[in-house]
Amino acid sequence: MFRMFPLVFLPTSWILLLPLRALDLFDAEEVEYLSFNVSATTGGSVRLDCGADPPSVFIWGFTRAGSDSSVALAYDYGRGPKLQALPGGAGRIRVPANTSALVVDEVRREVEGTYTCQALYHAGRADRVTFYYTRLDVEDD
Ligand SMILES: *[C@@H]1O[C@H](CO)[C@@H](O)[C@H](O)[C@H]1NC(C)=O
Ligand SMILES: *[C@@H]1O[C@H](CO)[C@@H](O)[C@H](O)[C@H]1NC(C)=O
Repeated sequence: MFRMFPLVFLPTSWILLLPLRALDLFDAEEVEYLSFNVSATTGGSVRLDCGADPPSVFIWGFTRAGSDSSVALAYDYGRGPKLQALPGGAGRIRVPANTSALVVDEVRREVEGTYTCQALYHAGRADRVTFYYTRLDVEDD
């Protein structure tokens, strides 16, 4: 089941920065998968959530509609988010302060696809992992 984790390929520089804790994910006692559909309008902004409370560690990935490959967009393991531009410079992304949400501004057709947030919650001895799958559809303004 948990083999699905390497969904997102992190740039090498990011892997070096990830805490060992993230590598312990295979021991997570509870894994949950949640799916959402969100739509956005070209030129607008859209917020994609990754849980109500910010997790201890989160990684956002993106798979463009019609593509098989995923790219990492953002991660935070407790020291503030690190971001990478959307492929082809389509739209702009940000993670609002104190959240794990991903906001896409200046939405274009090219940002349509599936966004995955892999969230790890440290809860005492039992870590909890949630995968948030959000399918983003873009409509013309
Ligand atoms: C999202 O949309 C797809 C295609 O319309 C549908 O199959 C799926 O059930 C929807 N998922 C949710 C969580 O609404
Ligand atoms: C984020 O959290 C910190 C620490 O709790 C707080 O000082 C800061 O005001 C918060 N920022 C926002 C935008 O909520």
